[in-house]
Amino acid sequence: MSEGIVHPPTTASYEADPESVGRVLLLYSGGLDTSVMLHWIQKNYGAEVVALTINLGQPDEDYSVVTGKAIDLGAIDARVVDARQEFVDDYITPAIKANALYGGGYPLFTALGRPLIAKIAVDVARETGCDTIAHGCTGKGNDQVRIEATIATLAPELKVIAPVRSWAMGREEEIEYAREHSIPVKGGTETAPYSIDDNLWGRSSEGRWIEDLEQPPLDDVFQLVTPPERAPDQATVVNIGFEKGVPTSLDGEALGLIDLINRVADMAAANGVGILDHIEDRIVGLKVRDIYEIPAAAVILTAHRELERLVGTIHQNRFKESMDEQWAYLVYAGLWWEPLRTDLDAFMEESNSMVTGTIGIKLYKGSATVITRSSPHAVYDSQLATFSESGGLFRQTASPGFIELFSLQSRMAWQVRNEAAGSEENDS
Ligand code: ARG
Repeated sequence: MSEGIVHPPTTASYEADPESVGRVLLLYSGGLDTSVMLHWIQKNYGAEVVALTINLGQPDEDYSVVTGKAIDLGAIDARVVDARQEFVDDYITPAIKANALYGGGYPLFTALGRPLIAKIAVDVARETGCDTIAHGCTGKGNDQVRIEATIATLAPELKVIAPVRSWAMGREEEIEYAREHSIPVKGGTETAPYSIDDNLWGRSSEGRWIEDLEQPPLDDVFQLVTPPERAPDQATVVNIGFEKGVPTSLDGEALGLIDLINRVADMAAANGVGILDHIEDRIVGLKVRDIYEIPAAAVILTAHRELERLVGTIHQNRFKESMDEQWAYLVYAGLWWEPLRTDLDAFMEESNSMVTGTIGIKLYKGSATVITRSSPHAVYDSQLATFSESGGLFRQTASPGFIELFSLQSRMAWQVRNEAAGSEENDS
């Protein structure tokens, strides 16, 4: 460690003691924070840095530029891991089976990505002989929770540093630091950028005017989804086929999940589908407004839920909703490795075993509406649904007996209350 630097005292056991930091695995995006960090860690800890960038399907990312920049900034190694397949198989797939939405609309793409990113960081840190993992999360968000909880769970021997949380630099100081040390800043330094996180399953923007709750969305925030008023006047219909809860085909064509998600995203985005202006209760206490672009999730989750409800009984459907809610909360809260999540996943597997069929969705100027459904396992019989006096499982003449017994307790309670009210009136 170089002298003259005052490091704040540590609170948690997994936080690195500056004296013992020798080689750091840095989760590197190539952006301003982590680029300044790459330099700052070498300077302030006298440590070597291995840069790690993870591909979770962020659109338009040039990874060779990112690794080149890391090496230019002094990294002893710069690696890229393509984790898209693992992300869809082990993170997005269970999320689809759990209809995963937090706070009524956020499909958790960031929350799903973080435990995987941190898990890969642990693997690469061990492989490259790092003793410490560094990340660029601030002290105000959920992402620090998700990443550090993962590292502390999977690798108790590794330590963590989170420079953005402890260094006393704001954006202006970071730009100044970058200038002083010839660190290239992309997108210029004039306007503050949005804070962006994106992957295959969605994109979030925070900061700038988004923090002003009275400000309606400005168009320059939207990078994926066409604003609905500019979407085509013609509707697009998309048919999504599922097998045991997993999307496997698009308009009859079998597709791997990565391609399927990207194709659905493109169709939905072109039709203005998947914009969400959302206020969220963070796990660290704050409320935050995010502008989300979630074209694929908006369509796929809608289709999955519809199919699931068609093949489930009333009892399964009512119960499943509360399990979905538990699942989403755990994942949002960064407790991916909590055994309850695994228990819930076993339930999700079982309850998705009949979720096979096809849902047709109409995309039109910002809306995604279910228009057709079909499944070999639908708990549905069109014979029973018509007005005809059909035989089989349903006899209309049985209904009065059902109503009499079904309403029995409610009718009794109604009477008891009326009698009590009557006697109170007589008393006074
Ligand atoms: N609010 C969302 C969440 O907590 C998205 C966070 C996006 N992260 C970011 N660094 N911009 O999951």
